[in-house]
Amino acid sequence: MHASSTLAIPEHAAVPRHLAIIMDGNGRWATQRFLPRTAGHVRGVQTVRRVVEVCGRRGVRYLTLFAFSSENWRRPQEEVSLLMRLFVQTLEKEVDKLNAQGVCLHVVGDLTAFEPRLQELIRAAEARTAANDALHLTICANYGGRWDILQATRRMLQARPELANDPQAINETALAPYLSMAYAPEPDLFIRTGGEQRISNFLIWQLAYTELYFTDRYWPDFNARDIDAAFEWYRTRERRFGRTSEQLASSA
Ligand code: IPE
Ligand code: IPE
Ligand code: MG
Repeated sequence: MHASSTLAIPEHAAVPRHLAIIMDGNGRWATQRFLPRTAGHVRGVQTVRRVVEVCGRRGVRYLTLFAFSSENWRRPQEEVSLLMRLFVQTLEKEVDKLNAQGVCLHVVGDLTAFEPRLQELIRAAEARTAANDALHLTICANYGGRWDILQATRRMLQARPELANDPQAINETALAPYLSMAYAPEPDLFIRTGGEQRISNFLIWQLAYTELYFTDRYWPDFNARDIDAAFEWYRTRERRFGRTSEQLASSA
């Protein structure tokens, strides 16, 4: 298990070990060009490819991308269907390349809502890349931060029913192994493209001490220079985790 930022002080490195991104702005990118919103999603897939490559080169170990939220089902049905098709096509097309790049793929979220064929593709892609360790790429699909905390609580109580009679024993350490990203350290850096400054029910538990970076750039336009600018900003942050600047200076 990785240390929790509220129970221990995480290590700090110049490059974020775990980068979590809300890929936003596909629709507006397309609308600005008088294209259907879906054209923005298609272009967005190219950005995913680019970002995976750049992060691999920069030494990021965990990259987590928010692809479809538990609230995105509220979108027009044609847009939801296109997103699902894109997901299937991308998995089919990209897994070989990801595998060759040493990427270990994880898909987290409530996958039971997806078509059986998509669920199968996801499981196969995960199994295929399971032994890789260069970069852990997590796609959050039908994911919601609240769902995650609730599913973790349910699974914890199923595995350890005695906890129901001993609420004092329910603490972070008991719950953490059941969160859907228990295999990863908490994100060091969060990026949201597209100009909005909100979390939109992303990793609400795990972002407790993450540095938050917002950029107006739409996701289809997001590139290596934008990543480097975010990393540069990240390097200037003083990550205090509750302590004072003076304490940090004296422990350095
Ligand atoms: C993000 O882009 C992609 C998904 C949510 C699937 P949007 O589709 O939210 O783009 P905007 O925010 O409407 O521009
Ligand atoms: C968040 O983007 C979800 C994903 C990027 C998958 P949205 O575009 O759905 O977020 P809101 O609705 O504007 O907050
Ligand atoms: Mg959006």
